[in-house]
Amino acid sequence: MVGSRAMSATLVETVEEPSPAREIEYCRSLEQGRILLFERPPFELPAAERSLLLAQRQSRAGYHKNIAYRPAQDRVTGFARGADTVRLRDALRLYSRRATEFAAWLLPRYARTWRLDLASFRPEEEAGRALPPRSRNDLIHVDAFPTRPTRGDRILRLFTNVNPAEPRVWLSGGTFEEIAPRFAPQALVDRARREGLGDRLRRFARAAGLKVAVRSPYDRFMLSFHHYLKESAAFQEAAEKSRLEFPAGATWMVFTDMVSHAVLKGRYALEQTFLVARDSLVLPEKAPIAILERIARAPMG
Ligand SMILES: [Fe+2]
Repeated sequence: MVGSRAMSATLVETVEEPSPAREIEYCRSLEQGRILLFERPPFELPAAERSLLLAQRQSRAGYHKNIAYRPAQDRVTGFARGADTVRLRDALRLYSRRATEFAAWLLPRYARTWRLDLASFRPEEEAGRALPPRSRNDLIHVDAFPTRPTRGDRILRLFTNVNPAEPRVWLSGGTFEEIAPRFAPQALVDRARREGLGDRLRRFARAAGLKVAVRSPYDRFMLSFHHYLKESAAFQEAAEKSRLEFPAGATWMVFTDMVSHAVLKGRYALEQTFLVARDSLVLPEKAPIAILERIARAPMG
């Protein structure tokens, strides 16, 4: 294994049977905000499934950013009309299973208690993609899910670039630990200002019988921080940026609530998300919730 601090990526040349010591090393790398990069596929996706995926187009409906696969319901959303739904679901199910088996084999410590979240497929070219500001992928941000609060658990994602020729290109603006001391205090103030209105709207929605997500202070902050970073020209300009290229066929794993990222270029990426329990972390003090609690001097869970 070789590492390059500037790239924030740890290149994993070969995947050996992960000894407990090796597993801890991988967990430490990930939790410090590094990316585990597998340039050669650590698991196979058969050629038939790959060519089916390369023929997919995104639904034109604006509310679907990606084609999503929900393992718990074995259901696919966001595909274009005319797609072969059954074959598409089978291909995404196969990717989701293989990605999950591989990640559980590599990181059994996390797998014991993680929650399997969605898988997705991103068939659109990211360069020049027209999306609303908060959905834009080309602005640097850390991830937060509006509909699936984590209460301090972590967002671990495994990506595969199934593009046969082109790399997927990311820009990182550093880790949450590097960004938060400078930008979180202002974001906390902004959130507090909006909170009053937010609480009134939530009460109104509940009274009207609408389902409203119950979010912890941590989830409320992370969601507003996601928006704040994308909307802050000061952050987008001032962030110390590193460019990351994931070659055709590469697989990589990263805590995307920790490592800030923007996607500049590339199409045809697959992804599986795991929600990793806070108490299975090797370095819990590096978790965004712990960093935030130190900054806010208040519990956020
Ligand atoms: Fe993201």
